Amino acid sequence: LIHPLLLCGGSGTRLWPLSRKSFPKQFTQLIGDESLFQASARRLSGPGFAPPLVVTASDFRFIVTEQLAGIETAAAATLIEPEGRNTAPAILAGALVLAAEDPAALMLVAPSDHVIPDAARFREAVQAAAPEARSGRLVTFGIRPDRAETGYGWLELSRDPGDFAPEAQPLQAFVEKPDAATAQAMLDGGRHLWNAGIFLLRADALIAAFETHAPAMLAGVRDAVARATRDLGFTRLAPDAWAGLDDISIDYAVMEKADSLSVVPYAGAWSDLGGWDAVWREQGPDDHGVVTTGPATAIDCEGTLLRAEHEGQALVGIGLRDMIAVAMPDAVLVAPRDRAQDVKKAVAALKAKG
Ligand code: GDD
Ligand code: MG
Repeated sequence: LIHPLLLCGGSGTRLWPLSRKSFPKQFTQLIGDESLFQASARRLSGPGFAPPLVVTASDFRFIVTEQLAGIETAAAATLIEPEGRNTAPAILAGALVLAAEDPAALMLVAPSDHVIPDAARFREAVQAAAPEARSGRLVTFGIRPDRAETGYGWLELSRDPGDFAPEAQPLQAFVEKPDAATAQAMLDGGRHLWNAGIFLLRADALIAAFETHAPAMLAGVRDAVARATRDLGFTRLAPDAWAGLDDISIDYAVMEKADSLSVVPYAGAWSDLGGWDAVWREQGPDDHGVVTTGPATAIDCEGTLLRAEHEGQALVGIGLRDMIAVAMPDAVLVAPRDRAQDVKKAVAALKAKG
């Protein structure tokens, strides 16, 4: 059995104003009629998959329960992080909880903000990766890159992926969030794939990697798990132990350093809805590059996303080039598309204003 670990504690600030502090993007119906979180949970269910483990923030615990119930699922356990400390401690906590029951349990680490339309094909790739993970390797999933993206991790292959069959091969190197020149060189070289941010590994193998590369974090998270309290079926990790942990992602803490990494290429469609530019791309712009959602109208626009979230409020764009406009009843965002990643600055600025 494969145990999904659903990460859904992120705040999704780059998708403001749809994504809010109290209701971040993974729980919204950004694309399609399920939330991204529900789609992720459903994608990793069925034969061969155990009920998921969820790691989230206290504020989202009831949203998680309700959204899982909405797809007739219940979590095996829901771990509550006292504060966000990025993905390294969140994933490690999941591994420690699983390992307490079965050290060799196979865990599939899955973000909840990805769009992977062909769920059956993705499950096949995961099953194809299982023997490699069972042998103790940390398995990543590699996506064919189509731009010099600096917001992703890049995976250096040891051999040509050929027809992109989902077959495991050892990884030469893992480069998290390279600078623009490095990303361009990796794109041109043709020997790198994007890291999908999804990992299949044995709980004990990941714990051993932390032992080697981040022993202080292992000690702290062990303590937070050992002294966790039960509250209405949720597992609250010990706040004082958690407070002392570094804020660091699994990619920097372990994956860039570990030498037991493998990669399984995934040829199906995959997208990380990291910002409004990604939503625009994912929603399939028309011949003029325009995407409209809700009561929005584009007149003579190009390369533009117009999204109106309130039925009673129309949004009209005229003559816009490469813009993003998102209208909520209480907030409106207008920005050039190539500044989409700066939306998190808007959130910081509003916070500072109070
Ligand atoms: N529970 C929990 N707690 N989840 C978190 C936390 C946290 O503190 N921080 C982030 N997450 C969740 C996010 O909500 C998201 O689903 C996932 O963990 C990954 O975090 P991101 O912040 O979105 O990472 P990224 O996109 O910059 O980079 C990662 O994903 C890329 C592909 O999407 C890396 O793994 C890259 O190497 C990879 O290419
Ligand atoms: Mg992401």
